[in-house]
Amino acid sequence: MSTRHAVSDTLDESALRDSPFCQTVEIHAELGSTNDRARELIATEATLPALIVADRQTAGRGRGANRWWASDGALTFSIALDAAARGLTTAQHGLLSLATAVAIVEAVRTTTGRAAGVKWPNDVLLAGRKLAGVLIESPRPGRLVIGVGVNVANRFDGAPDDVRARATSLAGSGTTRQAVLAAFLSAFDARLTQLAAGDPQLIDAARAACVLKGEIVTLRDGERETTGACRGLAEDGALLIESDAKVASYYAGVIARSGER
Ligand code: BTN
Repeated sequence: MSTRHAVSDTLDESALRDSPFCQTVEIHAELGSTNDRARELIATEATLPALIVADRQTAGRGRGANRWWASDGALTFSIALDAAARGLTTAQHGLLSLATAVAIVEAVRTTTGRAAGVKWPNDVLLAGRKLAGVLIESPRPGRLVIGVGVNVANRFDGAPDDVRARATSLAGSGTTRQAVLAAFLSAFDARLTQLAAGDPQLIDAARAACVLKGEIVTLRDGERETTGACRGLAEDGALLIESDAKVASYYAGVIARSGER
């Protein structure tokens, strides 16, 4: 017997189609991974941007080799994007994860009044626990898949121990997946425009939402490990870490905060 809860709210496909941002909209009851479906749409030259939402994923992917665990009530979607059509250069792709995380923070504020924060490069935390994650892939040059998982109405009974220990959701706030998604699309559209224009409002917003500044962090990137005091974000979105009396810029890796494994 399934242990899943009923999906808490039904997504309004026609309202999402009305969003000026999306040229193609797909809503699925179940998919392996919305990122994989976005890759298929890119391969078949669908009109972009395309939004793909799934009530549930059977093989949701996280960063690296991680799986993305989510029960019913979570918001899981991907956007397939033609980067050049949005005026984005390859050099700007690095800031895209921060732009996405900032848009999630804005959607949470708009729909619940709560102040979430960005854990560089692309996690969103609420009260120190993981609320949302972002997985960006580029299946071919100039095409991007932005995958987003937000814990909206889902709870964590039945979740793996590491998820229960670290995750949180917006359950009890009264918001819905539809409201969070609509607010995200609007905020993301605006942040993409800022990114393409080199508008400093984007990095200012990311800096304001950065939860790592002033903390002792450890950055792991393959075999490399750096521990030091986080000095915030550089103009280009790099994480600044001070160690051995020098501040250096880092562009990739996984962060553990002091006390985390
Ligand atoms: C992470 O925190 O490791 C990133 C998680 C990204 C999860 C989302 S859910 C929608 C999209 N489809 C996937 O398979 N993954 C992303």
